[in-house]
Amino acid sequence: MIDRRGVLKGAAAAAALPLLGAATAADSLAAVAASKGLRFGSTVGGKNFEDPAYRALNVAQCGLIVPENAMKWVALRPDAKSFDFRAADAIVRWAVDNRMGVRGHTLLWHSPQWMPDWVTRHDYGAQPAREAARLLADHVGTVAARYAGVIDSFDVVNEAVDSDTGGLRETALSKAMGAENAIDLAFRTARQAAPGAQLVYNDYMSWQDDGGKHRDGVLRLLEALKKRGTPVDALGVQGHLGSKYSDTPTGLGSLDVRAWRRFLDDATGMGLDLLVTELDVHDNPLPADFAVRDKLVADHTRAYLDLMLSYPQLKTIMCWGLSDKYSWLQGLRPRPDGLPKRPLPFDADFAPKPMRDAIAAAIKAAAPR
Ligand code: G3I
Repeated sequence: MIDRRGVLKGAAAAAALPLLGAATAADSLAAVAASKGLRFGSTVGGKNFEDPAYRALNVAQCGLIVPENAMKWVALRPDAKSFDFRAADAIVRWAVDNRMGVRGHTLLWHSPQWMPDWVTRHDYGAQPAREAARLLADHVGTVAARYAGVIDSFDVVNEAVDSDTGGLRETALSKAMGAENAIDLAFRTARQAAPGAQLVYNDYMSWQDDGGKHRDGVLRLLEALKKRGTPVDALGVQGHLGSKYSDTPTGLGSLDVRAWRRFLDDATGMGLDLLVTELDVHDNPLPADFAVRDKLVADHTRAYLDLMLSYPQLKTIMCWGLSDKYSWLQGLRPRPDGLPKRPLPFDADFAPKPMRDAIAAAIKAAAPR
């Protein structure tokens, strides 16, 4: 059982070495990143967190860890009255013990599909707006305060913009109190509960040429937040690269790099920092051959990171997993040919792949932060 004091004690040690874990290898991605004033990390949780070799790979390569699922409402909230912090605490304690930083994901996944069913069934009573606000503030305040001082960056709101329409999604909470009010309240409560933490809006808008509505919708949301004085510090660019379409010149999608730069210019123009929060490459349309596929994935990653790193506001790069063995894409987006996917910097046996070298090379080529 972890207690708050134990977590905070470890956090003080972590603060002395903010960019590197205790056992970080000298040539690790975290060390390469640290040499430029950047943080590099990845996500853990569930089955992969039970694998000692995988935990060791994370300790060796990462300065920063984000729980993949353990801090979502579905994991923390069995019902409206209670919290179950066991899985989240275990990850935070392990990260702190190994002197890695921790990001929090996510205080509000503003999408009905990913909230617990009980949030929809909940009795919002005669004053639904007030009850929704109470529930939301209680959740965000409790989680942010528990990890304040340990977690120095929170994905406060995740994926609030509908990628097809650019409009705001609705959850049971937002239906009761309004989407803008819910998003504002999440940020304001997080700022109050964890005053020192970076507060991030996180989403999967991309550089694909069919992503215009999503990008525009995210910019509209960020502009509205800034106008209302909502405390948002940074934009989390998830960085799930690749495309479901195979009939594109690269097999990884048709890109609109100019539109992507305009989008990043507009976001940073609002004074926001940038993070790449969930980097991986969806490789379904790519050839079966591992060597060919790995090279295409690596080249695509390099081009993407070169562009992202040209923004000095980008100071954090997180992969959504380190090894192909445990990528969410294996199960949730399988290849039609049944072959394993190769979306991450290390293979299923934890050997480095060309994508790993591409990440290191992009960071080495970047200007120091
Ligand atoms: O743990 C249960 C297991 O007990 C059960 O047998 C199994 C049956 O389906 O489900 C397991 O839970 C799954 C969980 O992943 C752990 O593997 C959930 O069904 C599944 O929905 C969940 O998927 C996660 C997804 O978010 C939804 O929460 C992925 O692991 C996770 O990688 C993914 O991460 C998201 C980010 O949070 C936001 N950005 C996009 C990213 C990728 O989709």
